Parts: sequence; structure tokens; C-alpha cells
Amino acid sequence: MDSFLKTVDDTDVLVQAQNLNKTYYVRNGMFKKTRLCAVNNISFDIYKGETLGLVGESGCGKSTTGFMLLSLLKLTSGKVFFEGERIDNLSEKQLKQYRAKMQLIFQDPYASLDPRLRILNAVGEPLVIYHRVKNFNEKKEYVAELLKAVGLQADDMNKFPYEFSGGQRQRICIARALALQPSFIVADESVSALDVSIQAQILSLLIQIKKEQELTYLFISHDLAVIKYICDRIIVMYLGKIVEIGSKKDLFSTPLHPYTQALLESVPSIGKKNAKTILQGEVPSALNPPSGCVFHTRCPHATDRCRREEPVLHENGNQKVACWLYT
Ligand SMILES: Nc1ncnc2c1ncn2[C@@H]1O[C@H](COP(=O)(O)OP(=O)(O)OP(=O)(O)O)[C@@H](O)[C@H]1O
Ligand SMILES: [Mg+2]
Repeated sequence: MDSFLKTVDDTDVLVQAQNLNKTYYVRNGMFKKTRLCAVNNISFDIYKGETLGLVGESGCGKSTTGFMLLSLLKLTSGKVFFEGERIDNLSEKQLKQYRAKMQLIFQDPYASLDPRLRILNAVGEPLVIYHRVKNFNEKKEYVAELLKAVGLQADDMNKFPYEFSGGQRQRICIARALALQPSFIVADESVSALDVSIQAQILSLLIQIKKEQELTYLFISHDLAVIKYICDRIIVMYLGKIVEIGSKKDLFSTPLHPYTQALLESVPSIGKKNAKTILQGEVPSALNPPSGCVFHTRCPHATDRCRREEPVLHENGNQKVACWLYT
């Protein structure tokens, strides 16, 4: 992937996020409403064929970012481009053609399947909505192919969701996401609810499908082991901001941002006696983010400048980092 990244140009960009912002106004006390900046001015590209990871602690804005890319959530400001076309300002009717190309695989395979729908209808629904099948038999044939592609049996189409295990249900969700032959999939914590052994099976399936169908993934997870397994490049977020972007190899071998370093240090692994707990204290509230660098309250290297001035994301070798240590 590294050599691939050195040769990419604009035509290799599938999705582009420009200065994305998402602000909520949340009730704070009886009458007061406070501004909550869920995503704060982030920009990045997703290249055709890559798996881009989005990692960070709970509440840092990962899902909000994914939902904005898919136009499932309105931007407060910023722009999203898909295959070079701006899509964040389109009407629902104009968006329909893009919706087929961009799919979401949810976190919870239990919640995302209607318990009353047989698998044939759950997986076949998008095919009907988008007129991809002419009749019932064609729908059955197509759904059978989709189920086989995700390692299930054609006969499974006659069953209901409760007849499947968690891993099998996630396979069904993947089959449904693949129905319209998308080019871009956002997988939001798609394996987090599964047992570790099942996680590995689903990750292998996602990797295999990506190769077969020339897909591009945005893979959202708070689990660095999962990110390391599946991603080519990684974005690290903290309190609504991007603090570092790099290839998997660079980021895991030479993490630049103190937050990335702390995240990697905190991953327990076999043979490592104790994961160091460099990350002290809680993530500050997004309702009242720290001044300057948002990480300064937990950073072992923080200086007066970090408390005062916000660092911008800039290139440092092959990585990008937002930290005053690298200026
Ligand atoms: N509808 C909403 N109204 C108000 N605040 C919201 C809303 N949705 C999200 N937020 C806030 O926006 C911030 C980012 O949330 P988001 O769900 O994107 O985080 P996340 O990184 O996906 O977290 P997790 O790892 O727990 O899924 C959080 O502070 C969250 O509380
Ligand atoms: Mg989330």
C-alpha cells in the first residue's frame, strides 16, 4: 500500500472530505443550550481501493464523520465529494443514485435486521427499491448469490433473523450492503459486538469481498487490533479533530502524535507484561473542549504554547500530524 500511496493522484480519490464540521446544540441545565462540536473542521481523502481506518476513543466523532460522508447526516459546514462530484448539498432525489454506491454496515447486527422480515426480503429489499430485479424469481436468484458470497446457504433466505447467530447476522447485513454493488462501504464498529473468533471470520470475509468487488472501505473502530488487521491507512481522531494520518506501517512503527503513541501503548498484547497507562484522566467534555491543542490536558509534553495555540495538521515525512512537537 505504501508504494501505491506514493503514486496516487486526484483521479485516485473516491471520497473527499473538506473542512467537515458538525455542531449540535444540547441542553445544559434547565434553559441553557450549549454548543457541542462533534466534528471540528476535518479534511481528508479516501483513495480508490484502500481501507482507511478511523480510530479514537468513544465520542471523538467517528460515527458522525462516517454518517456525514454518506449524507445520512447533514453537515453544519464543509463539503463532501464522491467520484469528484459534490454530494453534501444534493436533494434526496438527486442522492438516490449515490446511495446505491455508498453503503453502511452497522455496529449491531441484532438491531439492523427487522425481526419480521425473512432474509429473502431483508437482503432483497434494495434490489426491489432500485428496480435491479424484474420478478420474484430473479430476486430469489440474486439473493441466493449474495448469501453464498458471504458464506451462507441459499436456503437461508427462507429463515428469520432470530434463527441466526450474531456472526451469521452480520454476514446477512454484509450481503444486504453488497446487493446494489456499491463502490464505497462505511463499516462502523462492524465487528465490535462479536466474539473475537467470529470477528476474525468477518474481517477475513470483508477483506475477501473487497478484493473480489473492488471496494473501498472506511473502517471505523475504537479497537486498534482490528484496525491493524484490516486497514491500509489510518486516521486518528481526538475530540472531533484529526491528530494524525499515516499508513499502517508508519503509524504503528513511528507514531508521531503523543495521543497516537498513548493509544498504541495502551493496547495489551501477548508477551507485554503491562500495558503502560500513559493516557491519564478522562477525555475532556466536548461541551467544554480545552483551549489550544485539545489534547494538552492529557499530554506529557504539553507546553504553554500547546495551551494557547491550536496546532494545524501538517505533513511530517509520510505522515500528517497536528502537534507543536513537529514544527
Ligand atoms: N444527535 C446528537 N445530539 C447531540 N450530540 C450528539 C449527537 N450525536 C452525537 N453527539 C455527540 O457528538 C460527539 C461525537 O459522537 P460520535 O457518535 O460521532 O462519536 P464516536 O466516535 O462514534 O463514539 P463511539 O466510539 O462511542 O461510537 C459525542 O460527544 C456525542 O455525544
Ligand atoms: Mg460511533
